[in-house]
Amino acid sequence: MLNNPSSSPFLNPLVVALDVDTREEALSLAKSLSGQVGGFKLGPRLCLRYGQSFVEEIARQGPVFMDNKHFDISSTMEAAVRASFDCGASVVTVHALSGLDALKKMAALELELSRIRPFRILAVTVLTSWDQNSLPPVLRPDGVAIHVVALADLVKSAGLTGIVCSPHELESLQGRGLYLLTPGIRFPDDEKGDQKRVAGPQEALQAGARALVVGRPIVQAKDPGAAAEKFLRAIQV
Ligand code: C5P
Repeated sequence: MLNNPSSSPFLNPLVVALDVDTREEALSLAKSLSGQVGGFKLGPRLCLRYGQSFVEEIARQGPVFMDNKHFDISSTMEAAVRASFDCGASVVTVHALSGLDALKKMAALELELSRIRPFRILAVTVLTSWDQNSLPPVLRPDGVAIHVVALADLVKSAGLTGIVCSPHELESLQGRGLYLLTPGIRFPDDEKGDQKRVAGPQEALQAGARALVVGRPIVQAKDPGAAAEKFLRAIQV
């Protein structure tokens, strides 16, 4: 059975990446944006340093997306996803390259855990930092775009419906019954930082995204609340 592709554990489509170094900064941002944004993304940077009690504190401010991109033997991935769920995560990531059997286990686990509270396992297809030249040699004969679609189809055939993709890939994944979450969201006058393929918030939603991850344009703004409001207004939330 497939998880409903349109159901989202986030309160609205704007997910803020708490890409800061300390517990205090992350908590202060989460508290100031709580009730306004759809959720908070945490990565290994904070999860490893501060652990379960920290994730639980952030989860009290809004749904937590724990982006630790698990890629291992399936029993280890399952244990890691259960641990993330127990810490309070509502969304976690795994690599689609972990293969059909592991993805089927993830789909069964998503179904089991989402009966307890809204919960999604998203699959990462091809890392957006990889281009044709940096693909592992065995994958090089086909282009990145071909792998993204093939891996998305593999994820779906395993019973998962959530995918992380770049704005650039939204169009090729549209209409396949997938829940698409995309980073790389910028207004034209925002600093791109190291993001190469970006899109505006409205443009990304129109191209099929269900959730947008925004980091620096909000967390490094002088007034993060006002910066978040600008994104929410653009997507009419
Ligand atoms: O600051 P910015 O808006 O670029 O942050 C985007 C967030 O999404 C960062 O936490 C980054 O690690 C993450 N991300 C990404 N591209 C991916 C996967 C995750 O930018 N393919």
